[in-house]
Amino acid sequence: MSLVLSERLRAETKDLHTTAERAGIMPALLRGELALDRYCALLRNLHALYAAMESALTRHATHADVAPVVFPALFRQASLADDLAALHGPGWAARFAVQPTTQTYIARLQDLDTTQPALLVAHAYVRYLGDLSGGQMLRQIVARRYGLAADAGSSFYGFGDSAAVKAHLHAFRAGLAALAASPERIDALVAEARTAFGLHVDLFNELALAPAQALPTKLRI
Ligand code: HEM
Repeated sequence: MSLVLSERLRAETKDLHTTAERAGIMPALLRGELALDRYCALLRNLHALYAAMESALTRHATHADVAPVVFPALFRQASLADDLAALHGPGWAARFAVQPTTQTYIARLQDLDTTQPALLVAHAYVRYLGDLSGGQMLRQIVARRYGLAADAGSSFYGFGDSAAVKAHLHAFRAGLAALAASPERIDALVAEARTAFGLHVDLFNELALAPAQALPTKLRI
């Protein structure tokens, strides 16, 4: 049954994955052409999103409907803060706005936290499997674009070497397979994952339209 969950999540979000790849700032990011201030704004919004998601996941780490996909080794809140400190320096939290879509996203995560924690699984799926998949391609693009050495500024994508990334992917999928999800729960998880992708599309569009931010001279890339 839970193999069905993994397969349905992939098949039924495929269209929105393609939309997300093409939305707003993403094509420029993929081409290695995104200005640093916009990249920092993306990280700042992801930081707010992961903070909400990871505190909810932590709160439900022993809940049978959530526990199989809670992997603290995948948590990204701290690495996003490290990257923002490396790329921008202090003051990033105040400089870059938490966009309206991110606020909506956080409100949704907080609502699930209190009313339907089982659906947090859909958000962990969308973020962590994405980070472990396409995110791995972005790492080199970002390091080249912003002239980063070693891990400083790109630790968001760092999950270890390719064997470690593979092991994380395997463990996450095994976690999905271990969930005892009813057909109704699977329907709800697929719908929630589609909501999550849709919010990403809106966020990427919003970030493309946000006014440019002046950065300290040494950071203007
Ligand atoms: C920058 C653009 C992106 C690229 C180039 C990209 C690329 C990829 C690739 C190559 C895979 C592996 C597909 C496979 O195993 O067959 C993947 C999987 C995935 N990506 Fe992306 N991706 C991008 C953006 C995103 C975004 C923005 C999200 C989430 C908001 C996301 C979420 C996912 C998820 C959840 C999976 C796992 C699908 C599954 O096997 O169930 N991706 N991506």
